[in-house]
Amino acid sequence: MSAPHGRRTQTPTASHTAIVGLQWGDEGKGKIVDLLTAEHDVIVRYNGGANAGHTVQVGAERYALHLIPSGILYPDKACVIGNGVVVDPEKLLQEIDTLRQRGIQVGTNLRISDRAHVVMPYHKEQDAALEEYLGAKTANARGNLSIGTTRRGIGPAYADKVRRSMAIRVGDLLDADYLRSRLHVICTLRTAELEALGVRTAPLDPDALAARYAEFGERLRPHVDDSVYALHDAMAAGRRLLFEGANASLLDIDHGTFPYVTSSNCSTLGIPAGTGVPGHAIGRVLGIMKAYSTRVGAGPFPTELDNELGQRIRERGREYGTTTGRPRRCGWLDLVAVRYSAMVCGATGIACTLFDVLSGLDEVKLCVRYRLPDGSETDRFIPDAHRLEGVEPIYETLPGWSEDVREAPDRDSLPEAARRYLARIEQVVGVPIEVVSLGPERTQTLVDGRRAAALATA
Ligand code: GDP
Ligand code: IMO
Ligand code: MG
Repeated sequence: MSAPHGRRTQTPTASHTAIVGLQWGDEGKGKIVDLLTAEHDVIVRYNGGANAGHTVQVGAERYALHLIPSGILYPDKACVIGNGVVVDPEKLLQEIDTLRQRGIQVGTNLRISDRAHVVMPYHKEQDAALEEYLGAKTANARGNLSIGTTRRGIGPAYADKVRRSMAIRVGDLLDADYLRSRLHVICTLRTAELEALGVRTAPLDPDALAARYAEFGERLRPHVDDSVYALHDAMAAGRRLLFEGANASLLDIDHGTFPYVTSSNCSTLGIPAGTGVPGHAIGRVLGIMKAYSTRVGAGPFPTELDNELGQRIRERGREYGTTTGRPRRCGWLDLVAVRYSAMVCGATGIACTLFDVLSGLDEVKLCVRYRLPDGSETDRFIPDAHRLEGVEPIYETLPGWSEDVREAPDRDSLPEAARRYLARIEQVVGVPIEVVSLGPERTQTLVDGRRAAALATA
């Protein structure tokens, strides 16, 4: 007999973990998720879509995950794409095929929410058209107004979710007749919208789209599930969940540098809505923070180094987008921003990544406050692009270190200046650094001060 309904919804033990980016993305979430997968059972994506690019490096093998949780490399773990994700079925199927070709098992270990929304080709068309329009047609004294999106259709797909009547969900792909009937209405309206942007002259063909997407639905059918019940069943059976944030807190639609953000709640606040798991189930929130800052696309970046030093960090950190290949903008670590993200996400610990990249600099800087246009100072972040553009970073300058730290056996054996840098971050943010990442590989990691042991590999 199944547990009575009231029992099922009792407060779950807070033994679940969230991984979340504390900056503007690409903090090394994929690497840390992979590291923590060993001690969890189910890895769950709750937001974003194929705009994410999470890299996991295992020896010479490098995997770039976009929609599938980074835990997929472990054959005995379950991976869930939650209802808060926007799924591009074509990209997802390509990702499944690529992983299988590389010997990774992708079967019923991958579950996809029937309520996740679908990114359709017209969403990508809309995304690109709006970016072009804002870039070319509205360029004015303030410059280009485009966001610099990944053009993966993310914003338009989430917009359709909120508009309701124009949306398609993964479950809809499993019912060809229903899908076709919806697409007949949607395509008429969407064609008119695309024509207004001056990008489409031929009408969208609902029958062709319905046939193609119903076929994708058939291929995805074995994975489609009611992920909310699946996750609650797993929790009730004592399994530990690991939530994998995509994008990052400063790109959160509500709490990021609006409007230069993505269209989902990428902070941990997106977890309950994006999975159906209540926030109090999560006992550990590991915020991922690069030892410096990067940003891809447009938007304010107070500590940006638009100079030779920024270029040097870009080359040493190989700061080129995992999804789009775009060069990432680089700058000093902004602790005003990180402290804000840690607060919003409820970070209980920090993983400081790409720490090896800072070796060889005479001095390193930490932004601890901003100077506002009226000359006053603040230690509070300003999650509004227009106002944030006006601030000037106030730095503390610390001595740098020349040693290569990649093979350091423990935190105590890092150069003194490197330890001081980490200690100062902990002091300013008020959250302990539990993990220090010294290279892209699993073993190039200090966990609780000591070198992570080599893990059983995929
Ligand atoms: P994510 O989106 O947060 O998962 O991060 P990305 O995968 O987009 O970008 C992080 C990049 O840094 C990837 O190429 C990783 O392999 C690499 N990386 C992760 N941690 C480290 C580190 O500690 N040192 C160095 N040098 N590279 C790292
Ligand atoms: P991961 O998970 C870095 C940025 C885009 C753009 C803005 C909006 O790999 O850290 P979108 O296509 O989402 O509408 O673009 O958000 N962006 C990211 N930047 N890493 C990401 O993901 C990102 N996801 C979105 O560059 O500025
Ligand atoms: Mg990335």
